[in-house]
Amino acid sequence: MSHEVTNNDLHDDDTEWQELKLPNLLLQSEAVRQVHATIEREWNFLQRSACQTAAGRALWKHVIHDPLAYLLAGESYLRSLHEKMKKDRLNNAREISGVILAVRTLWFDSRLEDALNSPNGRESQVVLLGAGMDTRAYRLNCLQDSDVFEVDFPGVLQVKATILEAAKESTNEFEHVRSMAKSLTRVAADIRENDWLEKLRTAGFLPHKNTIWVLEGLLYYLTHSQAMQVLRILANKCCVTHTVLLADFMNKPSTTLSNSAFQFYSDWPDQLLPSIGFTHVKLSQIGDPDAHFGLLNDPLNLFNKLRKLPRSIETHPDDGTPCCRLYLVEASGSPKQDVAPNVPTSVP
Ligand SMILES: C[S@@+](CC[C@H](N)C(=O)[O-])C[C@H]1O[C@@H](n2cnc3c(N)ncnc32)[C@H](O)[C@@H]1O
Repeated sequence: MSHEVTNNDLHDDDTEWQELKLPNLLLQSEAVRQVHATIEREWNFLQRSACQTAAGRALWKHVIHDPLAYLLAGESYLRSLHEKMKKDRLNNAREISGVILAVRTLWFDSRLEDALNSPNGRESQVVLLGAGMDTRAYRLNCLQDSDVFEVDFPGVLQVKATILEAAKESTNEFEHVRSMAKSLTRVAADIRENDWLEKLRTAGFLPHKNTIWVLEGLLYYLTHSQAMQVLRILANKCCVTHTVLLADFMNKPSTTLSNSAFQFYSDWPDQLLPSIGFTHVKLSQIGDPDAHFGLLNDPLNLFNKLRKLPRSIETHPDDGTPCCRLYLVEASGSPKQDVAPNVPTSVP
């Protein structure tokens, strides 16, 4: 998968980016319009975060092919992010709004694909916790041998299903909407409660089957104890079967900004995850060679400046601003093989 683009892609002469073009289905389908009106009226910030994320993926379309994201995000989130991106481009900003989201999406896509292509990964089941408006099951061919489970609040999954159904039924723009996964199951659950794993099992999740857990944009919405409880449940799975965790972690300064709705943080997820049972952990920062995708070429942009500072530093020495970091982490573990296979255990 190659997603390399140059800075010129973002600051080029064509002016297409100045105008927001919305799909007809978003503007004209009564079902889709009603659903988005309900979101505006009734959803809390947790659920709305799903639409904000989808807006990012829709508008970073020069690197992410996710046309359904327009429908799932809805007009108001698209307009709001589009305005910010336009302003950034006109001001020649070093960082264009939504770039973190674009890099994060591409990192999860590429790590997921690599995990599925690894010797332990083939035919793994894939669980998207806090799946929101994620359309990986529709976008990624690498999921073709995988049973995919999307876990989120019932209201989010219901809205998602309604919008995707409308897209499927549309005769022109979205006629080829279909899941590429071997199977796709939506599981309505609140992962702060004790019953989410049982609900997942009832829906067909197999506890002994190799599993890739995708926690994108989720952990920091939980309290420390809620997030640790979820992470411990996943770490315990390493004793049962080959388990891969893909997750992003905010560091402390990211959650202590005023008005922040974020709670859980970890400054050292690469130490935290081994301490609860994962054996291999690889941490990347936005802008690292594997978390770059040609979108962060300016050495003076915020992310490249941060990467040069030791991770223990919480305030930027140049200007006193907090060092807000997002860590992209891949962790894995497998049951220990105490007895080598095919070796006799008793001596005659
Ligand atoms: C920022 S969105 C990210 C969605 C998706 N992972 C993506 O990257 O597009 C966070 C999602 O987590 C879901 N979420 C937050 N807390 C949750 C909980 N306690 N149980 C289930 N889902 C939760 C929200 O409803 C929302 O869809």
